[in-house]
This record gives sequence, C-alpha cells and structure tokens, in this order.
Amino acid sequence: LNNGLGGIPQMGWNSWNFFACDINETVIKETADALISTGLADLGYVYVNIDDCWSAPERNSEGQLVPDPETFPSGIKALADYIHGKGLKLGIYSDAGAFTCQVRPGSLYHESDDAKLFASWGVDYLKYDNCYNLGIPPKKRYPPMQNALNETGRTIFYSLCEWGVDDPALWAGTVGNSWRTTDDINDSWVSMTTIADLNDKWASYAGPGGWNDPDMLEVGNGGMTYQEYRSHFSIWALMKAPLLIGCDVRNMTAESYELLTNKEVIAVNQDSLGVQGRKVQSSGEGGCLQVWAGPLSGHRLAVVLWNRCSKAATITAQWGALGLESSTSVSIRDLWQHKEIAGDAVSSFGARVDSHDCNMYIFTPQTISRSEI
Ligand code: GLA
Repeated sequence: LNNGLGGIPQMGWNSWNFFACDINETVIKETADALISTGLADLGYVYVNIDDCWSAPERNSEGQLVPDPETFPSGIKALADYIHGKGLKLGIYSDAGAFTCQVRPGSLYHESDDAKLFASWGVDYLKYDNCYNLGIPPKKRYPPMQNALNETGRTIFYSLCEWGVDDPALWAGTVGNSWRTTDDINDSWVSMTTIADLNDKWASYAGPGGWNDPDMLEVGNGGMTYQEYRSHFSIWALMKAPLLIGCDVRNMTAESYELLTNKEVIAVNQDSLGVQGRKVQSSGEGGCLQVWAGPLSGHRLAVVLWNRCSKAATITAQWGALGLESSTSVSIRDLWQHKEIAGDAVSSFGARVDSHDCNMYIFTPQTISRSEI
C-alpha cells in the first residue's frame, strides 16, 4: 500500500501469542518500558500492538467503541501518549466483521467512525481481523477500512488478518501494508514449519510497502527448543516477515533475548532491497534438508541451511540454486557465529547442521554476475 509505511517489514511486539485476552493497560505499559530497557526498541522493535480484548463488549450509546473500563480504565489515548512519550508506536486491533474473534464489537459498517476514533487516540497501526464476516468476501470488507484510515489524515499502518482465505497476496498489495497468508501460528515446530512452507508460495508478491505475514513470532513462549526458535527467527527474517515479538518481554530468558536481538539477522529482514527469500533447494527424506535464500542489497545473498530432519546432517548449497555461476568466488559470513568463515568459496558450500537447527549466512560474490533468484 502506497501510504508511506512498510518500506521494510514492521517490527514490534503484539499481545496475543502470550497474553491472549489477559491484557490490561499496566501490562502494555510495562511491555513498552521493557522494550526500551532491554534495548529491543533500539534494534527496531517499535510497534506496541494491542490485540483482541481491549474493547468493552458493547459500543456506547453513540455507537462508538469503548475501551474495557475494567482493564483499560485510563483509555487508549492515555496509553498512546505514554507509548509515544517513549518514542514507540501504538497498534490496535479490530475486525472486518460484526464481531472480533473474541466477540467484541467489529468494525464492519462502522469503518469511518472507528478509523476516526483510532486516529483521534493517536493510533499508529491497525490489525484488522476476519471473524464474524457474514460471508461477505474479504475484497469487499478490507478496502472500506483502508479508505476510512486514509480519510483520517493520520498515517496508520494497515495489517490485514484474513488468514490467507482469499489469496490476499494477489490483491492486498494496494490495500494493506501486510497480509496474513495462513491460519494462526501456535508454539510448535509443526505449526511453524507448515506456515513457513505456506508463506513461501507467495514470495513473489512481497515487497516494499506490502509484505506477506506468516503470523507473529513464538520465540520465547516455551513450546520449541532453542534450535527450533533459531530456525523460526532466521526463516521469518529471511522471508521478510513482520518481526512481531509474541512473548512476555518483561521476563525473557537469556536465550530468547539472544535470538531476538541478533542484529545481523534483523538486518537481513530490514534490508532495503525488500525481496522475500525462498526455499531454493531440498534433499533428504521428504526434502527435509533445505536451503532457503534471497537477494540483498549490494549484490549480496542471505542463505539459510535448514535441517528439518530428525538427525544432524551436512547441507550443501549449490551455486546454481542460488543463481550464481559455479566459478563465482564468494565470501561467507556466519550470522549466528558472527564471523567470516570463508573468503573464496566456489561452486558449493556445505556445513553440518543440527536437527531442527539452521545456519544463516551472508554470501558476498567477489564478482557480480548473477541471475536473479
Ligand atoms: C485471530 C487472529 C489472531 C488473533 C486472534 C484474536 O485468530 O488470527 O492473530 O488476533 O484472532 O482473537
């Protein structure tokens, strides 16, 4: 969407994956504080996004949405002021249907009023869900909110959450800044890998202004191993997915913190070229030894060797699969070890990768003749 936002994938935090409906203004403020004190905000995690359940069960007598008086007694404007005071941005959530997924009021047929209200509160980001949609096609329900947001005169990031039901990659590029390509993630290896493959299908539709959204990060929520979370974070970064942290950043383990704060991996996600990396090679049983890669600015490539098999194995990336001439000499930097590991690799590069783990690299060709991948 050409609204000046989403030139690179959005980064921040969202309440849903960890807190679900158990949110209140104190949690949101403490999260904002933690994003600052941990240094996450300095790395780019600036959106503080409140998901479902912030609103009271009914609109007021004027038909306006009202923050739940029990959990958000100071209101959203006060929260936005607090968050802006820290140099962060506030996101809110509504639904392109009669109700949200947790049966709070939806914005269908209230687009203009709700957009004005959000803008008056100082909201910077809207996640717009798809529950209780009365069977009306998404293509009819998502553009009205885009227009309503536009008419407020406030620039608001527009995140479509229609779960990939109507192939949003095909039409949402002019409607929103990102669109979910799949059903909800859960905190498991099976869910994460399934979603990665589904999102990969739409790679060619992503770019500056509009991104495929394979859903929010589960890193730090406890359902996957360190290696699996490393794979999750690396592949999301490579796929130019929104990097929205979904754990309790007030109480992160050192391991979660290390994964989420890898500057070199974040830089791949936030690279100015904005091309989604994709699966370019697979071998092994069921194709579980994989190479994912994509171009970066400066004629570089980001490359992930991903072992989805149940045993450690060597994965070898072939230059042909990366769009490189086999004689091209490549210098290789390891983004998890934070060091240069080769200066002049040619033809292929292999490394041992633990089960469910990945290695991530930047390849810099020493000569720049390369077909696009
Ligand atoms: C849907 C969305 C989730 C979350 C919940 C909230 O399932 O896909 O990301 O917003 O609704 O109810």
